[in-house]
Amino acid sequence: EALFEEEGRPRAGGSGPVRVRVPAKINLHLGVGPLRRDGYHELTTIYQAVSLYDEVTARRGDQLTLTMEGEGAGALPLDSSNLVLRAARALAERAGVPAHARLHLRKQIPIAAGLAGGSADAAAALVACDALWGTGRSRDELAEIAASVGSDVPFLVLGGTALGTGRGEVISPVLVRPSSWHWVIAAAEGGLSTPAVYAELDRLRADDATPTPLGDPDQLLAALRQRDPRVLADALGNDMQVAALSLRPDLAGTLARGRKAGALAGMICGSGPTCLFLARNAAQAEEIAADLNASGSCRIALPVFGPVAGARAA
Ligand code: C5P
Repeated sequence: EALFEEEGRPRAGGSGPVRVRVPAKINLHLGVGPLRRDGYHELTTIYQAVSLYDEVTARRGDQLTLTMEGEGAGALPLDSSNLVLRAARALAERAGVPAHARLHLRKQIPIAAGLAGGSADAAAALVACDALWGTGRSRDELAEIAASVGSDVPFLVLGGTALGTGRGEVISPVLVRPSSWHWVIAAAEGGLSTPAVYAELDRLRADDATPTPLGDPDQLLAALRQRDPRVLADALGNDMQVAALSLRPDLAGTLARGRKAGALAGMICGSGPTCLFLARNAAQAEEIAADLNASGSCRIALPVFGPVAGARAA
């Protein structure tokens, strides 16, 4: 499977609905550098898109509206702060077309979970509206508009596995065999605000209460090429973990449980509170997820695999 497949693009024109599926992301390496003057942290991260999906459907309309169902329905604001609407407006503005569409979001990706669900929805909205409006942007152009919506959005337009630098929005694809890694995602009760976790990390660092920051992701990239999950387990790392655990000490119990169930590694996913476990294979991922679900040490545990493609026609 090519990284920049164009055949998954929804067809432009016509009056039928455009449906786009978009994955969640995990971070295999999340190195957080200093706080920049623009309020963002300099990042070095390895993203991977995994098989847990949201879906955005775009239909013709005479204004811009958004409805939703699934994870976060009722809790997620559907006003202009919603990343789906911000993405649609950003594309319309750039392409010089009216931002007219009826958008519907079906969510499976937990919100405020460290899985970039909101960013994923924005990426799906860009791809769907581009097809609905026939604005014909390339993936790279969409990724550029995506960066104006959020740091993780460009990665979710592209998917696969990628190095992210800058504030996470500068993406360099990394070739990894599709669906070759098996993970368990353990979603927690409640969410964490990403800015709050960054602020906690800054506070802990000011107090010298953090481990040495991760270096370059060289070891991780080498482990991905080696294709041995035990080697990859040793190379995973997340500078935000200490801050997420400081705000949510209960997550240490979830991590311990997943490791006890046989996971090769367990860590906080992104800014948390989702916990991420590496399994040896698909069958073991099922087992670990079943154990976590039976133990009640998380809200829900799901086996997933990666890498998968980014936002594209469902
Ligand atoms: O880019 P995005 O809007 O998703 O970021 C949300 C918030 O997370 C930012 O306002 C900032 O507080 C924090 N952030 C950061 N450094 C990054 C990315 C995000 O501090 N590289």
